[in-house]
Amino acid sequence: MSHQSDALPKGFLAESLGRIKPSPTIAVSQRARDLKAQGKDVIGLGAGEPDFDTPDNIKEAAIAAIRRGETKYTAVEGIPELRAAVARKFKRENGLDYKPSQCFVSPGGKNIIYNAMTATLNKGDEVIVVAPYWVSYPDIVLLSGAQPVIIETSLEDGFRLTPNALDKAITRKTKWLIFNQPSNPTGACYTREQLKALTDVLLKHPHVWVLTDDMYEHLVYGGFEFSTIAQVEPELYHRTLTTNGVSKAYAMTGWRIGYCGGPEPLIKAMAKLQSQSASNATSISQWASVEALDGPQGFIPKFQRAFEERRDLVVSMLNQASGIECPTPEGAFYVYPSIRKLIGKKSPSGHEIATDSKGNLYIAQTTAGLQKLTFKGMSPASR
Ligand SMILES: Cc1ncc(COP(=O)(O)O)c(C=O)c1O
Repeated sequence: MSHQSDALPKGFLAESLGRIKPSPTIAVSQRARDLKAQGKDVIGLGAGEPDFDTPDNIKEAAIAAIRRGETKYTAVEGIPELRAAVARKFKRENGLDYKPSQCFVSPGGKNIIYNAMTATLNKGDEVIVVAPYWVSYPDIVLLSGAQPVIIETSLEDGFRLTPNALDKAITRKTKWLIFNQPSNPTGACYTREQLKALTDVLLKHPHVWVLTDDMYEHLVYGGFEFSTIAQVEPELYHRTLTTNGVSKAYAMTGWRIGYCGGPEPLIKAMAKLQSQSASNATSISQWASVEALDGPQGFIPKFQRAFEERRDLVVSMLNQASGIECPTPEGAFYVYPSIRKLIGKKSPSGHEIATDSKGNLYIAQTTAGLQKLTFKGMSPASR
């Protein structure tokens, strides 16, 4: 047996790794899994994951693909059938004309964003990210050696980016705006008019590209109508990457399929990168995703209704807890309560609530009826 230490030699790890932190949502989800494995009664609300099962027609399509022997490498960009289904989806649901050659498939929506950023960013480039943001955006940018530029939004503005704040944040170095709505974690959504006000700003800055993360487009409530940037301002089509995936809308988080539509040279660059990393998304998941996008869509409104009922329950419970203010999110499946009125106060167990992360822990432990829940929106994991 070797007596050598298994510590890594100094300087062994890439410097880029030192710039990022492990995904906090993945960490909190693992903690919930570990507690469950110990027999604890825990509901993990860390990662954004529908608790519904993948619909049967989608599972059957995957089983049929296995039986047909669709178990080999595929084209890097995705099987032609899925790229065509993605193009149809963009036309049908977003009024966007993308040819299949402009559509690209990757193992998960996160990997689409990773590919787009890694294929385009250089040291010194800036990427605008709207806070509160999904945890991965700044770290994906940092991995490329570029600089995330964070625009803060407020509860009073409904956590929406304002045209003025966007205009001010753009510099010569800005390469991308990452724009996510419905937002993880605030649930903020933008009407066509609100989007138009932002696209007017972008039209003034022809060097800025937009990555729209439309992952939650189907999870909107109260009759809200989703629109996406390239649809609202066709002049931005040539510098927009419209990204999406099957994870949330079709309860397929574990299948790992994300997709996007955009200018062909960018798609080719992303494919070049993926050809030297993941190669292709899983063949079986790709066939399941063809069925998800082309098959019956009737379960989406059912998922929506269930999420809306839960949202209303959770928001009303949080607002009954003294000191907590929780706006009603218009989309996605998160809540983003403010505990600012509790900062400096003592929890029932006598601990001072000094920061939002400490405060959230005590509140999660002590708020009547909520003891078992760890709210994504209440933890720094969602910042
Ligand atoms: C806003 C947003 N974009 C992208 C993703 C990534 O989705 P996927 O699981 O397909 O990688 C998530 C997952 O939580 C998300 O919340």
